[in-house]
Amino acid sequence: MEIPKDLRDRINRETRIVVITGAGISAESGVPTFRGKDGLWRRFRAEELATPYAFKRDPKLVWEWYDWRRGIIARAEPNPGHLAIAEMEMVFPNFHLITQNVDGLHRRAGNQKVIEIHGNLWMLRCTREGTVRENYEVPLKEIPPRCQCGALLRPHVVWFGESLNPEDLKRSLALLERCEVLLVVGTSAVVQPVASFPWMAKEKGAFLIEVNPEPTPLSPLVDLSLRGKAGEVLPELLQELKGALD
Ligand code: OAD
Repeated sequence: MEIPKDLRDRINRETRIVVITGAGISAESGVPTFRGKDGLWRRFRAEELATPYAFKRDPKLVWEWYDWRRGIIARAEPNPGHLAIAEMEMVFPNFHLITQNVDGLHRRAGNQKVIEIHGNLWMLRCTREGTVRENYEVPLKEIPPRCQCGALLRPHVVWFGESLNPEDLKRSLALLERCEVLLVVGTSAVVQPVASFPWMAKEKGAFLIEVNPEPTPLSPLVDLSLRGKAGEVLPELLQELKGALD
């Protein structure tokens, strides 16, 4: 791989780099994506599992689904794509990551400057008190799990029909406004508002890179389209970015 000159010219130790990831980054770790051939939304109905209404109607069903996913993720390991993104954070002091993934694999790979904009399924929230706690029990002892106060706990994730955490959104928008290079990895780029983030960054002059084996609605907008698997493309891209520092 060789990166274009206009990207190379932007790269230095201070370059403000933002990475946005979606389910595709975890695909090579064995975590199913949502859309596409083997996607979760082919087998399950989002409205029965990932909405506040679904949880109200059948918390046990919703929790069984999350418990199943937690089991898959607990057995998964960060892959070379996650590790390359973790190393980017070490190399570039002005690096930030915004992930739509709730699997926590970026943190396990070593990223610390990460906004988990759709939440994290290892965090549980009390439906009465709003308090959030970590829980790594696999499988869960009690389904649906309950808080000490007796109320139901729910996954601390953002469901369809819910708003993002305003603080996360504000921080993300501020990063996009100022970023010089935006790398978008493994997302179908159809779920709002994250799907709009690259458009905002582009308008502010950022150089856009997309890593995805398939074309997406974002593809016509990007400056560099790297068609391939994140676990293969990202380590090579990282080497190129590091090479541009010399
Ligand atoms: P999707 O499942 O919609 O898209 C996954 C993307 O990853 C697709 O564009 C694939 O082509 C790509 N892909 C597959 N394997 C890949 C690989 N090895 N390397 C790189 N890319 C690969 O997942 P998201 O875009 O993350 O929301 O979905 C967005 C949101 O929709 C999720 O956060 C979730 C879902 O409903 C909530 O839960 C709120």
